[in-house]
Amino acid sequence: MSKTSGRPQTRYVCQSCGESFLRWEGQCRACAAWNSLVETQVRDVARAARASVGQGRRGTLGPGPVPTALGEVGEPDQPRLPVGIAELDRVLGGGLVPGSLVLVGGEPGIGKSTLVLQAAAGVARAAGPLSVLYATGEESTAQVRLRAERLGLLAGPAGGIRVLPESAIDRIAEVVISEPPLLLVIDSVQTATIDALDGPAGSVGQVRGSALALMELAKPAGIAVVLVGHVTKDGSIAGPKTLEHLVDAVLTLDGERYAAVRLLRASKNRFGSTEEVGVFEMGEHGLTEVADPARAFLAEHDGPAPGSVIAPTLEGSRPLLVEVQALVAPGPGGTPRRTTSGVDANRVALLVAVLARRAGIGLASHDIYVNLAGGLTVDEPALDLPLALALASSLRDRPVAQGTVAIGEVGLLGELRSVTGLERRLREAARLGFDRAIVPRPSRSAAPTQVPGLEIAAVGSLREAIDLAFAGGRSRATSPAGDGPTIADRVAAGPARC
Ligand code: TYD
Ligand code: MG
Repeated sequence: MSKTSGRPQTRYVCQSCGESFLRWEGQCRACAAWNSLVETQVRDVARAARASVGQGRRGTLGPGPVPTALGEVGEPDQPRLPVGIAELDRVLGGGLVPGSLVLVGGEPGIGKSTLVLQAAAGVARAAGPLSVLYATGEESTAQVRLRAERLGLLAGPAGGIRVLPESAIDRIAEVVISEPPLLLVIDSVQTATIDALDGPAGSVGQVRGSALALMELAKPAGIAVVLVGHVTKDGSIAGPKTLEHLVDAVLTLDGERYAAVRLLRASKNRFGSTEEVGVFEMGEHGLTEVADPARAFLAEHDGPAPGSVIAPTLEGSRPLLVEVQALVAPGPGGTPRRTTSGVDANRVALLVAVLARRAGIGLASHDIYVNLAGGLTVDEPALDLPLALALASSLRDRPVAQGTVAIGEVGLLGELRSVTGLERRLREAARLGFDRAIVPRPSRSAAPTQVPGLEIAAVGSLREAIDLAFAGGRSRATSPAGDGPTIADRVAAGPARC
């Protein structure tokens, strides 16, 4: 066994993917990121582990935990710590779990510090002001106070939250040990450093080291830790990505910085479901819960507009109605512009090709802009049909009939594929006053979906859907409801309702 086992060694660690190399190179060989290698002191963990295992002698058991029969393991003795914000508690699965690490990620300026301070106030309100320690490495205590003032949190128990302007985890640990809180906030993990490592704050080594140190501190003491972590639009900054498998829950705050609505999703949750989403609105006094989340992402404008299609999407288990907006304009020649926000650009490119080949709608030389109202990002394939309809609507400069929603995945042959949770989506659309839906035809064995107050047009192809979406359609779609005029009948009867 080498004598250097476990000693720190110099490595060049990629800040993008975490791979380490012996020498500095301009481009990471693992993930191809440029200028991402940072000199870091690392310990050869595997070798150190082998060394310490080798030191133990057969038959002797040193101090430390011993195995327990699963059935004899007691229930957790500390209850969850509700933060008092229903949407956040819902995403957490019923409040913070003592001893757990929760990462709250999001782009800079999206409202992470605001959310976390409001949660800290909720805990302080329920468990007393000393129950929260808020370590701020990014902002001064005066700035945190200013935010608290703006949020109306200075009066009452929240005013007694302990704020520590510190980013050195070793110092934070001393304070925690001297007077343990129930909730420890680290804002942000990118500023956190541990003395044992040399790398700069924000480097993969420091971020991971800090999180590991906090875990060791928090787990035995039953302290809930909330780490705030910045992620850029492409998720490239070191830190949150490399922390995901280490922490117990990863919550992401999403939305357009200059729009009010924010969506909180759990991409990982060891203590709850990842199906739940929380919907907030950023206002004068911080983040407030939205009364009717399903309509939060609908843009407000009078009547139908060309290029706009409403899609009943499903975020986890929660239906949200989203407005897909497309603008198509003849390009000046050369390579046309394709700009998308909130949807996958590759998916839009694919739909442009399918529209051309399967529906006779040529957009190859057009500039295309696609956007989801409210700054939402949706990556479910069910958004294909509304996207395609929005593109067709903008090209023809004709709005899709009022009161219509559309949902469905589009295949390469122009066929529509069914989507999950159709009934739940459509019920929400009907509740919000929509009266017809264009959806994929169910497979032969499946029963057609029926929703009171909603006329459901189940179609098999993109071409049929387009014909139906605009007045003067050629196809005669059948309504599974059976009685009453079909949409095609209505369309043929004139523009009365549309
Ligand atoms: P912040 O929580 O500082 O974002 P992050 O920690 O994710 O970087 O909030 C940033 C934005 O939120 C800032 O531009 C101002 C705005 N804001 C409000 O609109 N209302 C409020 O009550 C607060 C506190 C912030
Ligand atoms: Mg912040």
